[in-house]
Amino acid sequence: MNILLFGKTGQVGWELQRALAPLGNLIAVDVHSKEYCGDFSNPQGVAETVRKIRPDVIVNAAAHTAVDKAESEPEFAQLLNATSVEAIAIEAAKIGAWVVHYSTDYVFPGTGETPWLETDATAPLNVYGETKLAGEKAVQENCPKHLIFRTSWVYAGKGNNFAKTMLRLAKERAELSVINDQFGAPTGAELLADCTAHAISVAMNKPDVAGLYHLVASGVTTWHDFAALVFDEARKAGIKLALNKLNALDTSAYPTPARRPHNSRLNTQKFQRNFDLTLPHWEMGVKRMLAELFTTTTI
Ligand SMILES: NC(=O)c1ccc[n+]([C@@H]2O[C@H](COP(=O)([O-])OP(=O)(O)OC[C@H]3O[C@@H](n4cnc5c(N)ncnc54)[C@H](OP(=O)(O)O)[C@@H]3O)[C@@H](O)[C@H]2O)c1
Repeated sequence: MNILLFGKTGQVGWELQRALAPLGNLIAVDVHSKEYCGDFSNPQGVAETVRKIRPDVIVNAAAHTAVDKAESEPEFAQLLNATSVEAIAIEAAKIGAWVVHYSTDYVFPGTGETPWLETDATAPLNVYGETKLAGEKAVQENCPKHLIFRTSWVYAGKGNNFAKTMLRLAKERAELSVINDQFGAPTGAELLADCTAHAISVAMNKPDVAGLYHLVASGVTTWHDFAALVFDEARKAGIKLALNKLNALDTSAYPTPARRPHNSRLNTQKFQRNFDLTLPHWEMGVKRMLAELFTTTTI
C-alpha cells in the first residue's frame, strides 16, 4: 500500500510518520518539500503531488491551525484548510484513493454541556472553525472513500504545548490565572496517530466504515484543571515551582481575537464502536508526556 502524508512535521504529522510506517510505503511531505509539493497555499501543486504519487491512501495533517491569526487572514486560512483540501479530494476520487483528514470541535458553537454527536448541527464561532468545516465538506462532497476525524485540544511531546507553557510560567510566577469555563479533552498526537493507523487498516477491509468521526481522549476537563494536574505532577517529580496560587478565570475575562466554544466535549461512541477501540482517559496520555518531559529536559 502506498501512503501519502501531508503535513509531516506538525504535532499529528510527526506521530503519523511513526504510526503509518508499518502499513506500507510511506511518502511524507511538508511545506518545504522539494521533490513533491506539500505547500497548501498551492492547491494545483498538492493536486499534482497526488497525480504523480498515485497513493492508495492520503493522510492530511497539514492545516492553518493559528486560531487567532486566522481572524485577520481568512482567505489564507480558507486556502489551506479548504481549497487545497478540496483539490486533494478531487484528485483522490479520480484514482480511487482514500482521504484521511482531521477537523475540529470548533465547528460547533460550544453551547450546552452535552458531548456533541457527528450528526449535530454545526455553527462555528470563528474563522478557523468555518474554514475547517469547509474542508470537511470538500472531502465529503468530492471523495466518498474518506475518514474525517474531528478532534480537540491536541498536544504533543515535540515542540511547544500548553503543559510546557504552564510549567515555564509556574517556575517564574507566584500566581497564575487559567480559563475554567471551557470544557474538553486534551488529546495526544500519539493517540490520534495510532488510532488513525488502526482505522486505515480496518477501512482497507471494511470500506463501509467511511465517514465522519469524533476522536478525542475520554473524560473531560478545563484548561484550569489541566494546568492543576501539570503542577501536581511537577511537584511529585520534585520540580520546584514559584507558583503558590492558581486562579480560575472566565473566558470573558481573557478576550482573544477568535471566540472559543465553552463546550468542546465530543461523543466518541461511533468511533469506538466502528473501529472496536477503547479511547483512554486524557490524564493517561498527559501524565506519560509529562513523565517524558521531566526526565528528558531541564524545564
Ligand atoms: N492543535 C489542536 O489543538 C487541534 C484541535 C483540533 C483539531 N486539530 C486539527 O488536527 C490536525 C493536525 O493539527 P496539529 O495539532 O498537528 O497542528 P500543527 O502542529 O499546527 O500542524 C499543522 C502543520 O501544517 C503545517 N502548515 C502550515 N502552513 C502550511 C502550508 N502552507 N502548507 C503545508 N503545511 C502547512 C504547519 O507547519 P508550520 O508549523 O511550519 O506552520 C504544521 O506542520 C489539523 O487538521 C488541525 O486542524 C488540531
